[in-house]
Amino acid sequence: MIWQVFAISGCGAPRILSPWLSGGPAPMILFPEFHQRYGPWAIVAGASEGIGQAYAHVLAERGLNLVTLARRIEVLEQDAQLIRRRHRVEVRPVSVDLAAPDLAQQIDAATAGLDIGLGIYNACYSRIADFTDVALDDHQRMLDVNCRGPLILAQRLGPRLVARKRGGLLLMSSMSGFQGSALIATYAATKAFNITLAESLWTELKPHGVDVIACVAGATLTPGFESYTPEAKRGKAFPMRADAVAREGLAALGKGPIHIAGRLNRLVNGVTRFMSHRQRTNFFSNATRSIYGSSES
Ligand SMILES: NC(=O)c1ccc[n+]([C@@H]2O[C@H](COP(=O)([O-])OP(=O)(O)OC[C@H]3O[C@@H](n4cnc5c(N)ncnc54)[C@H](OP(=O)(O)O)[C@@H]3O)[C@@H](O)[C@H]2O)c1
Repeated sequence: MIWQVFAISGCGAPRILSPWLSGGPAPMILFPEFHQRYGPWAIVAGASEGIGQAYAHVLAERGLNLVTLARRIEVLEQDAQLIRRRHRVEVRPVSVDLAAPDLAQQIDAATAGLDIGLGIYNACYSRIADFTDVALDDHQRMLDVNCRGPLILAQRLGPRLVARKRGGLLLMSSMSGFQGSALIATYAATKAFNITLAESLWTELKPHGVDVIACVAGATLTPGFESYTPEAKRGKAFPMRADAVAREGLAALGKGPIHIAGRLNRLVNGVTRFMSHRQRTNFFSNATRSIYGSSES
């Protein structure tokens, strides 16, 4: 888990005029090819803070209209106002619990009648503790939010993207999805699910013009990360900025099936690839324990 801020700048990108949006001067559209392929609407699941919020802002900067999902509607509404003011795009915030049994119907309702070109599943639920200390409900919630959620989003959007012959799906994953690790057993397994799902969809949907990618993050400075990482230990994880991760993820669309955000994360992945599974699992377990744990191996 390590990285470096490496934002991809929009400077020098071609600009065209977008269609007129009500109530103000016509905005400029940055990245017209991106807008053409992945617009005019995107849906971001888990958009009220952290990396998901960063995705929403970067997409709006590129002229895409947004459906933003999270549980805290007031936070989404507030951010939507800011995004509309800044970027003159449409934003539809929707309060959704991504673990809800009727998630598929809620996604259908939130996107009905919209030409969605891009789906991003960002939200996750994690518990950092010994496996045996975590309640079954929490393990199951990790499965629901981290696996069932992205599966449903992909299943609801996939056929629509194939029908329009262009678009993208981005699933957020983690360096912990490449191997098992102490203290995050179920979380790591759910993140592996996202990598494998993205890889499979990447090859299936590519011939239909749909780009699928797993964006693999290492430690990233988000409210979630700050809530579960002791302040004194945060520097040890070399966290990236959320917007840097989001910009990298979007820049990598079309270059799937996997993008590891951050040079340092890519370096760590490159080096640990030469380890045996056993060595790699011990390496990541010890790194996780050194930040979060008590029980050393
Ligand atoms: N931050 C890191 O260090 C790090 C490292 C590696 C990988 N990642 C990956 O990056 C992604 C984003 O991480 P993050 O730290 O930015 O945030 P996060 O804690 O994974 O997600 C936060 C966002 O998801 C929403 N959310 C969470 N549970 C939800 C639920 N049940 N229903 C609806 N919305 C829900 C939250 O909004 P509400 O609370 O309003 O619902 C918030 O908008 C995750 O997939 C994570 O695995 C992060």
